[in-house]
Amino acid sequence: MRTLSLGKNGPQVSAICLGSAYFGTRIDRDRAFEVMDAYFEQGGRFIDTANSYAGWMPEGLGGDSERTIGAWMKSRGVRDEIFIATKVGFGYRGVPQGTSVELIRQECDKSLRNLDVDRIDLYYAHVDDRRTPQEETLRAFDGLVKAGKVRLIGASNYAAWRMESAYQVSQTEGLAPFAALQNHHTYLQPRPEVDWGDNVVMNKEHFDFARNRDVRLFAYYSLLKGTYAREDRPLWASYETEANQQRLARLKAVAGDLGVTLHQAVLAWMLNRDPAVLPITTASKKEHLLENLGAADVTIAPEQMDFLNFTDIVTR
Ligand SMILES: NC(=O)c1ccc[n+]([C@@H]2O[C@H](COP(=O)([O-])OP(=O)(O)OC[C@H]3O[C@@H](n4cnc5c(N)ncnc54)[C@H](OP(=O)(O)O)[C@@H]3O)[C@@H](O)[C@H]2O)c1
Repeated sequence: MRTLSLGKNGPQVSAICLGSAYFGTRIDRDRAFEVMDAYFEQGGRFIDTANSYAGWMPEGLGGDSERTIGAWMKSRGVRDEIFIATKVGFGYRGVPQGTSVELIRQECDKSLRNLDVDRIDLYYAHVDDRRTPQEETLRAFDGLVKAGKVRLIGASNYAAWRMESAYQVSQTEGLAPFAALQNHHTYLQPRPEVDWGDNVVMNKEHFDFARNRDVRLFAYYSLLKGTYAREDRPLWASYETEANQQRLARLKAVAGDLGVTLHQAVLAWMLNRDPAVLPITTASKKEHLLENLGAADVTIAPEQMDFLNFTDIVTR
């Protein structure tokens, strides 16, 4: 699988990252191993998880996904080949929400144990904790980098202005800067009035920020759980607009011209953006994952991108 750099002069990472939210809960260990084996066989080396996955499931304790990935890396002897990203910040099973210094230190050590690794390659603030001063959060992350427990840091569910203020704090204080931003992003565009709670939808300002600060963009919910091609997954109400019907028609036309599926077209569209957005994709079925990974090498011509970006609130 082709790779892209992470941050300024940063390491190369797989163009499509493997999501793992339900590994060890809804997706049992054997199935998760099968999905990770398939991703690895296709050349994928970048796995995304979080300390909280999936503490909201009845059987979930939190750390279930991390432990499943750790067991898989150990059993396959591939720890040194995998770029592992995990997160801290959402509350789960008695652990409060936030990114205070105490929580970050405590949860980092827990994640290292769960993953059975000495170092996390990319450690995200999963949510923007506005009660904790940004300087405290960034100092805590920087301490982990200096201690060798974390290689790079990232942010998820941050507004663009908060990314910029974090950038300024890290510059002024000489702290490790966020190298990655992970927000919700897909080809269809949500209704503007929707309240996403702690989740943040990627917008024009994030693209502007990423372009100017060498921060890599990542997308979750990139396939809206498969709604683009699955009859059992109706379009989310938050996406029901006239403009999206037109966008869907254009997506189908371009996918037809390229000879790819709709899911592949969505992921390829992201990767062909400027700057590129790296999708975090996941599946409980190996064939779905293989389909999605097929998007990594699809090139979309500039005129096809213009055609797809019709009514795009992000670039216009
Ligand atoms: N930072 C954050 O706040 C945040 C939030 C959400 C997720 N994430 C990360 O992003 C990852 C992906 O998120 P997501 O699960 O919501 O992504 P998604 O792409 O919206 O949905 C993935 C689901 O779509 C279905 N699917 C995927 N490929 C398909 C295909 N080719 N054909 C048919 N159905 C397909 C599968 O459903 P079934 O398995 O049911 O078949 C799969 O589990 C997570 O695992 C997690 O690592 C981060």
